[in-house]
Amino acid sequence: MFDEQTELESLREIYYLTNGASGSWRKLLAFGVSLEQQLKRKLLWIWPTAVDLENYNHFLAKHNIQRILSIGCGSGLLEWLMAAAAGEHKISMHGLEVDRNWWQSKYSVRSFIPLNYVEDAANPSQLDSGFLSNCCNDSPPCAMLFCYFNNRRAFLDYLRIYRGKWLILIGPKPAVGIHTDPNPIQPQLPTDVWILRERLDWTDRNVVAFYEKIA
Ligand SMILES: C[S@@+](CC[C@H](N)C(=O)[O-])C[C@H]1O[C@@H](n2cnc3c(N)ncnc32)[C@H](O)[C@@H]1O
Repeated sequence: MFDEQTELESLREIYYLTNGASGSWRKLLAFGVSLEQQLKRKLLWIWPTAVDLENYNHFLAKHNIQRILSIGCGSGLLEWLMAAAAGEHKISMHGLEVDRNWWQSKYSVRSFIPLNYVEDAANPSQLDSGFLSNCCNDSPPCAMLFCYFNNRRAFLDYLRIYRGKWLILIGPKPAVGIHTDPNPIQPQLPTDVWILRERLDWTDRNVVAFYEKIA
C-alpha cells in the first residue's frame, strides 16, 4: 500500500544513497526495484540496470564526452546515476528545466544535479549566448541529452542553438505505446547533419541513441 509515510521513508533513503561519494549508486539501483511505480515516476522515467549504465558510459569514454546538459531532466536522478556510475571517466552533468516554482516547492522531490531554469533567460537567444553555449560548446566534448522529452518545438529550438556535436536521445521503443518527441529511433533530424553512431537497448522497453553532428 502506497502512502505518504512510505514515500517519505523511501525518499529519505534515496537522499542518503545519493549523498556525497558516488559509491552507493549500485545500492540505489537495487533499492529502486522495491519502489512503488508512483514514486518511481516522480523520480525518473527509467530505472536502468548496472549493465545499461556501463554500456552507456563506455560509449561516453570511447568518445571522450566529458560534459552533459540534460534538457527537461526532471529530478535529475537518472543523470546522477549516469555520472556516479561513470567511475574514472568523470562526467560533469547539468540540467535545464522549466518551472522553477515547482522544482523549488515543498511538493517536489529534490534535484539530484545542478539545475538551471529556462525562465532565467528572457528568450532562447539568451540561452544561446549564456548558459547553453557555455555549457555546451565542444571543448571539451559535450552532449545534449533528452530523456522522455515530448516537445518538438522546444527540441528544435535547443537543437538550433546547440554548438556541441553529440546528441543523446532516450525514449521508448515503438511497441511500448508511449509517445515522445523526439523519439530516439525516428527523431526526424536533418540526416545530412546528424548520424546515428550507437543504439543501446535499455531493457526491452527503452532505447538510448547517440547521434553525432558531422557538418
Ligand atoms: C516526461 S518528463 C521526463 C523527465 C526526465 N527527463 C526523466 O526521464 O525522468 C519531461 C520533462 O521535460 C520538461 N520540459 C518540458 N518542456 C521543456 C522545455 N521547453 N525546456 C526544458 N524542459 C522542459 C518537463 O518539465 C518535464 O520535467
